[in-house]
Amino acid sequence: MAENILVTGGAGFIGSHTVDLLISRGYKVTVLDDLSTGKKENINKEAKFIFSDITRLDIKKFKKIDAVIHCAAQISVAHSVRDPVNDASINVLGSLNLLEMCRKLGVKKFVFASTGGAIYGSAPKTFPIKENQTEAPESPYAASKKSTELYMNFYMKTYGIDCISLRYANVYGPRQDYLGEAGVIAIFINQLLRNQKPVIFGNGMQTRDFVYVEDVALANLTALNKKTTSKKINIGTAKETSIDNLFNLITRLMDKHAKPVYENPRKGDVMRSSLDIRLAWKELGWKPEVKIEDGLRRTAEWFSLEKKG
Ligand SMILES: NC(=O)c1ccc[n+]([C@@H]2O[C@H](COP(=O)([O-])OP(=O)(O)OC[C@H]3O[C@@H](n4cnc5c(N)ncnc54)[C@H](O)[C@@H]3O)[C@@H](O)[C@H]2O)c1
Repeated sequence: MAENILVTGGAGFIGSHTVDLLISRGYKVTVLDDLSTGKKENINKEAKFIFSDITRLDIKKFKKIDAVIHCAAQISVAHSVRDPVNDASINVLGSLNLLEMCRKLGVKKFVFASTGGAIYGSAPKTFPIKENQTEAPESPYAASKKSTELYMNFYMKTYGIDCISLRYANVYGPRQDYLGEAGVIAIFINQLLRNQKPVIFGNGMQTRDFVYVEDVALANLTALNKKTTSKKINIGTAKETSIDNLFNLITRLMDKHAKPVYENPRKGDVMRSSLDIRLAWKELGWKPEVKIEDGLRRTAEWFSLEKKG
């Protein structure tokens, strides 16, 4: 069993929840993060922290690693469109630096935080989307995630590193950034907490598959110790929630009577999304445990406490 785990992006949203779970299960965890979007206060006190940029990795700093969970990334699709070179330098070359580090240090397991929504893009016509459906990475961000998966194939075949890509749906929960353009749940909750008018891009009928961050952390942990046949596995709920429905759920549980403002749809936003998760169950024995109502309540409570300081 892997014992010493390196979590890149461990000061960020998904990475920090993954670190907390690993530590609660007795793993020794090292966090690598450049704190570009991550926060020091997110880093579990029992983890070793290495402040480092994956685009300039100094592998001498890393010792005794059995496995890597790679969450560090430039996560904004819009930024990737504005600056594809910067996106690729972090998401492609940074990931490649880590794979090279695994090769040099003899690390045998690499779990990658990939994306379902962006990699399948607008290609799927049937839902929930299966892993073997046509892919259409339409943004530089999506291309960077797909490229890393292709490099992972190479490291798996050539050096025997067990690389597994978990393709997340829309992840939500405490600690998610609400100031960027992604993370609609964190954005709505924080707009409502500040009595601002929430904005819905499009007609509100578009659907997404929202998966709670602790379920994703559990998928990351489970993938560490399972030798799977499939190496690309969806992590979501297989359920579709429309943005209108989501908004109503949130206003109801926060006891707010706000009405959203509808604006033009954003370029590249797909109308429907949900991920088939039968493979995750078959290969990892993983399925999501947290119902959306519970996850939303926990998230709203956390942000409300955070706002109060
Ligand atoms: N949040 C989602 O819904 C979602 C969906 C699909 C995939 N993902 C993927 O999951 C991973 C984690 O995303 P998140 O939502 O937690 O975002 P996040 O921004 O909270 O976490 C990313 C972390 O990576 C760190 N980082 C960025 N560039 C770095 C660099 N050059 N060197 C070292 N560290 C660096 C940041 O400081 C941050 O702590 C990402 O790979 C993202 O693409 C997220």
